[in-house]
Amino acid sequence: MLIGVPAETDPAETRVAASPETVRKYIGLGGEVAVEHGAGLKAGVVDSDYQAAGAQLASAAEAFGGDLILKVRRPTEHELALMKSGALVIATIDPYGHQDVVEAMGKAGVSAFAMELMPRITRAQVMDVLSSQANLAGYRAVIDAAAEYGRAMPMMMTPAGTVPAAKLFVMGVGVAGLQAIATARRLGAIVTATDVRPATKEQVESLGAKFVAVEDDEFKQAETAGGYAKEMSDAYKAKQAALIASHIAKQDIVVTTALIPGRPAPRLVTADMVRSMRAGSVIVDIAVERGGNCELAKPGETVTSENGVKIVGYSSVTRLAATASSLYARNLYAFVETLIDKANQALAVNWDDELVKATCLTRGGAVVHPDFQPK
Ligand code: NAI
Repeated sequence: MLIGVPAETDPAETRVAASPETVRKYIGLGGEVAVEHGAGLKAGVVDSDYQAAGAQLASAAEAFGGDLILKVRRPTEHELALMKSGALVIATIDPYGHQDVVEAMGKAGVSAFAMELMPRITRAQVMDVLSSQANLAGYRAVIDAAAEYGRAMPMMMTPAGTVPAAKLFVMGVGVAGLQAIATARRLGAIVTATDVRPATKEQVESLGAKFVAVEDDEFKQAETAGGYAKEMSDAYKAKQAALIASHIAKQDIVVTTALIPGRPAPRLVTADMVRSMRAGSVIVDIAVERGGNCELAKPGETVTSENGVKIVGYSSVTRLAATASSLYARNLYAFVETLIDKANQALAVNWDDELVKATCLTRGGAVVHPDFQPK
């Protein structure tokens, strides 16, 4: 059982899918681990750390030649060509909107697992990459906002006068948004937040922030059984947009984190709203890679609007590569452990397990996940 850990090839990606800690554990399960030279460098892990944990250093071809390949991002065509038919690959594949990639993985004969499709059930909490990464992204978004903001975050009373606290507005109060609120509160900002799920109101208030939303009948039913947001009606969106527009005009910092699973990120901050903010204000859009909540956000860039508002479009979690990698690596290990027969020290996937069924996209040369059947 050879487990390959390649270096990520996307220049925007800084994380790595295994840590020295998880390498040791894989070896404990009977695996051999091949880590590509330099794979952990951007996450602060050097080759000798992996060697000390028992890994062999390898070329990309050797790492991709494993029976099980652990990745952060979905494999590219070139990487798929390096994998052997029947190999397992586990990554955050982001399959919605990338049907071509899913079909290419099917054709390559690999069994591909998308970690972000892991069901949010108790047994799988330790495997929940969305939570582990979103929590860090929410924290980092506020740190980035503080760094870009040319004023102080907390109120300060000094002999030279009083500095007002920054007004910070969080849009989308899932895992990332809650951590953003908590971080901004710790830094002394005056925090407000909005979400379309009614359950978030109490969560926002429990963190000492104020909830802002149109609370009509549609809002009261706007949560799926799985706990996610629903796409709202056009009428609701218009009412909410009007309320948000007047609120945003008074904010110093806006952090947006709103997502709807399987759909592009909802557009919440228009160019007009950006124009209504004063110069020096900051918007951090952590939904930027899924299309963005802010109309003007650009992935991987900080842009300044004509009226002097900075819009940060970095992937926040990649700016915390060491912590993000160590948690992601543990999420992956917890899942892989369920795919291994410990007595025989070999891969033994139970294809009927609900975690496997929910995450497995392709197998035996075909797309097997019901959501991604070729049309
Ligand atoms: P997410 O990353 O899918 O979305 C972020 C937030 O954006 C959500 O709160 C969503 O309601 C909000 N949003 C969507 N459209 C919006 C709009 N138009 N305006 C404002 N906000 C909008 O969500 P995340 O962080 O994955 O959490 C989803 C739910 O899952 C939460 O209830 C969370 O508590 C729950 N959860 C459950 C876990 C478990 O049971 N194991 C683990 C982690 C989260």
